[in-house]
Amino acid sequence: MSLDSEKQLAAIEAVKYVKSGMTVGLGTGSTAAHMVKELGRLVQDGLEIVGVPSSENTNKLATELGIPLTTLEKTNGIDVYIDGTDEFDPYMQLIKGGGGALLREKILTYNSNLVIIIADSKKEVKRLGDFRLPVETIPFATKKIEQLLQKMGLHPKLRLKDGSNFVTDEGNFILDLDIAHVSNIQLLESNLKQIPGIVETGLFLDMADIIIISKGENTITLRK
Ligand code: 5RP
Repeated sequence: MSLDSEKQLAAIEAVKYVKSGMTVGLGTGSTAAHMVKELGRLVQDGLEIVGVPSSENTNKLATELGIPLTTLEKTNGIDVYIDGTDEFDPYMQLIKGGGGALLREKILTYNSNLVIIIADSKKEVKRLGDFRLPVETIPFATKKIEQLLQKMGLHPKLRLKDGSNFVTDEGNFILDLDIAHVSNIQLLESNLKQIPGIVETGLFLDMADIIIISKGENTITLRK
């Protein structure tokens, strides 16, 4: 079974948690896109939900599929948020932001009653850090933050797209960090968040309630 089929299988399993009347947070990325497509099909069949997209890309996809949308401030909170991940470890800690939507994703995650993460089999790791940790930075401060993170041994790389700086939906830049050698990720998170100009990191610590992982034709559901 291909990785893409695994993503789709996890997505189909996750939307079983969505019921009519719910406000649903819609993640970003190729796995989340399968979930949005599945919700689109269910909406056509009569499921009554309202979605809150985590990115302009997801907004566009959900709109094309006819999913009614709203914004975070207009809701009384999100019933269930479903999104992919770049890595998860045995403690259900995540690295997210490979698609560059980490800031809005983390805000929606924080404001959701139930957070479901969907993953193909390649996303499960023993220890976080094979994937570079995305950190969203204010353009005004990015050069100085990059120099500081270099001194901290985190080998920042400014994310580029088509030869120019990658710009997030919130108008910021992304530095991708090497955290493979970092043993205390909680401390790393708090140290990074203290640096002025770092808006958010892709460490989603203690935020996932459920992880649905596909392995071949099977799905496994992990709970907090
Ligand atoms: C986007 C994300 C994605 O959830 C993450 O990058 C996984 O992407 P994919 O489902 O395409 O593997 O955090 O910011």
